[in-house]
Amino acid sequence: MAVLIDGKKIAAEVRGEIAAETAVFKDKHGFAPGLTVIIVGEDPASQVYVRNKKRACEEVGFASRVIEMPEQTTEAELLAQIDALVKDDAVHGILVQLPVPKHISEEAILRAIPPHKDVDAFHTENVGKIMIGDFEYLPCTPAGVMELLRHENIDPAGKECVVVGRSNIVGKPMAMLLLHANGTVTIAHSRTKNLAEITRRADILVVAVGRAEFITGDMVKDGAVVIDVGMNRKADGKLCGDVDFASVEPKASAITPVPGGVGPMTITMLLRNTLTAAESAVRAADK
Ligand code: GUN
Repeated sequence: MAVLIDGKKIAAEVRGEIAAETAVFKDKHGFAPGLTVIIVGEDPASQVYVRNKKRACEEVGFASRVIEMPEQTTEAELLAQIDALVKDDAVHGILVQLPVPKHISEEAILRAIPPHKDVDAFHTENVGKIMIGDFEYLPCTPAGVMELLRHENIDPAGKECVVVGRSNIVGKPMAMLLLHANGTVTIAHSRTKNLAEITRRADILVVAVGRAEFITGDMVKDGAVVIDVGMNRKADGKLCGDVDFASVEPKASAITPVPGGVGPMTITMLLRNTLTAAESAVRAADK
């Protein structure tokens, strides 16, 4: 039977550390790290994510604010709002919840958040730094996965790591972080031939494809560590991951559940990046 990697518990531990560091920061500097989240439109899933981010900020002692803008907001209006936050010294991190409505260019928005306030690590400069391995801001979901592996004493060095999914948010940076940790990394995707043959090679299998229960037991090697980044809703309304837990769990040595695996770690890493941004701002002001 696989070890269940308890993301909720590990996230609570890391958030406790961040709360303690935040208390020291506030004592020393007289203000709190500040994160502002912008949400455009009324996508229900995004609203839940944003609410969770705000609550997590409050729990660790950050100053957090959510700016809600209507669906018909123009790109210029959103850029003007971002610009006001860029100029606001009390705001250390800016996050625009994705997706934005179709009439707004996601690329233009992500470019407008300067690298030092880019707590998502989506700006091309921060993405480039991830590639090189010299980075301050970690892409939140992949960093959360690395933190889970660290807590479970699973070292990717020399292991066959297979990442299924090549998104800019998860798959590509995930592969980079595993590579920096000396894993032998393969990225598989929707055009990959013989997917099962490749996933069966994995000592560490990370799945981020957004397809409910896509990876089944026959696609997994005995003893593999399986990390499920997916969050899907089944026809019966229940949440499930990209991994078919029932058939994969008996083969895995360790596995993340959905919910309660990777999910809680993503916001935790956002908190970590916001604290880093606040500390950097203080350093820059001291210079
Ligand atoms: N929408 C879904 N995931 C994310 C994320 O990590 N960051 C942002 N900004 N939007 C998202």
